Amino acid sequence: MSGIAEFNIASNVQTDHEHQVQLGLLQALCTAARENPDAEAVAEVLEQLMAYSEAHFTSEELLMRMKSYDDYEDHLSDHSHMLEVLLEIAADHAAGNSSLVAGKTEQVLAFIGHHIDTRDRRFAEYLRNGM
Ligand SMILES: [Fe+2]
Repeated sequence: MSGIAEFNIASNVQTDHEHQVQLGLLQALCTAARENPDAEAVAEVLEQLMAYSEAHFTSEELLMRMKSYDDYEDHLSDHSHMLEVLLEIAADHAAGNSSLVAGKTEQVLAFIGHHIDTRDRRFAEYLRNGM
């Protein structure tokens, strides 16, 4: 197996792992917001989720650029959308509108779940095919 093929496989394994962490943080935020919407715990999970998502998206985007990926622009706009909604959620929570956090987080969860099943899967296949 070539070095590039090995690199592509390792990248997919790493990305899958990052998706699990990201989805886990979103679930944790839903739970925290539902159980005690005004708790400091909500702000903490939200902060972790935002930092992790930014880092994960940046690494995915770098990989796409490195591979001259053809769906880069549309893929990027999904990432930007999710980060924008997370900023909105953080603003809601900071402004005391914490009752909105759980519902909006569920929407983000559905959005990113769909993104992982479609756009991320397409990129994983692109890598698997040795591009
Ligand atoms: Fe993605």
